[in-house]
Amino acid sequence: MTSRPGPFDRADFPFALRLVTEAAALAAWKWVGRSQKEAGDGAAVDAMRKALNDINVNAVVMIGEGEKDNAPLLYRGERIGSGEPEIEIAVDPIEGTTNMANGTENSMAVFALAPRGAMFDLGPSFYMDKLVLPAPAKGKVDPRWPVKQKLEALAAALNKPVSELRIFVLNRKRHHAMIKEIHDAGARTMLQENGDVAGAFMALQHGHNVDALFGTGGSPEGVITAIFARALGGEFFGRVDPQGEDEAKAVKDFGLDAGKWLSGAELVKSDDAIFVATGINSGPVCRGVSIHKGVARLHTVILMAKTGVRHDLVSHLPQA
Ligand code: FBP
Repeated sequence: MTSRPGPFDRADFPFALRLVTEAAALAAWKWVGRSQKEAGDGAAVDAMRKALNDINVNAVVMIGEGEKDNAPLLYRGERIGSGEPEIEIAVDPIEGTTNMANGTENSMAVFALAPRGAMFDLGPSFYMDKLVLPAPAKGKVDPRWPVKQKLEALAAALNKPVSELRIFVLNRKRHHAMIKEIHDAGARTMLQENGDVAGAFMALQHGHNVDALFGTGGSPEGVITAIFARALGGEFFGRVDPQGEDEAKAVKDFGLDAGKWLSGAELVKSDDAIFVATGINSGPVCRGVSIHKGVARLHTVILMAKTGVRHDLVSHLPQA
């Protein structure tokens, strides 16, 4: 799909988008550190949906909340608003719900958008195997290769020994064999309990001492990551990776091939794509919400896939 001038090129468009994640982050913040994942997630979902309605877009949710989170809103196929432009969205009202509920670092409200027709339809997929590479490794690592070969190619691209590589991996049983292979090859890992959007961000940006992301996490997070990887000049590959028989059957019935890796450009077929995140608890992407003398301070990061432009926006919102 070729880029075309339109609402995505309007200078004010990205700034309206921040209202969507700000609303979700503020709603979620009220539940930070209260050990109530579902209540916090529900509040963020409601707030995000209402804000999407208010900014007057015409959106279709391509991937978002679903059976995995028991969420009744922002489900795949839901239509929101009747304005302009016509967009597709991938939503994650709270990325790091457990961190939010535990009151620990790294949670944010996130969504990404692209023009209608641009996002690959992942159907009922919840889980995606991912490979995220920084700019210097673009085009130099094949996701189908064995772990050791990927590490050697990555090390060559980054001009450092394999022993100096550090790979972000979600600390899950499903990854134990891969983690061992990474260690056996001589590289290090950063094992985190949650938050592979932040993991991908660290892999794509200098200064976090993370060189790539390997492994399986949420599919919505995958589509969202494909968009900001493009903005940050890196590379994303994803492959549906059903966890459990029900998901395996559902993706197969939908016609998806779990063995096939898709490039970021196949997952999102337009450069007119935008990533938006507002911090709930501080993490590698955004500062968290802070409230001082009745005024909430929110930090939003917007990344434009087409230009790579990054906007850092800070809002001060008086609280009733
Ligand atoms: P949510 O907060 O949206 O549940 O996502 C947190 C997260 O760690 C994601 O970053 C990751 O993609 C996904 O969960 C992994 O899923 P699971 O925890 O089921 O392995």
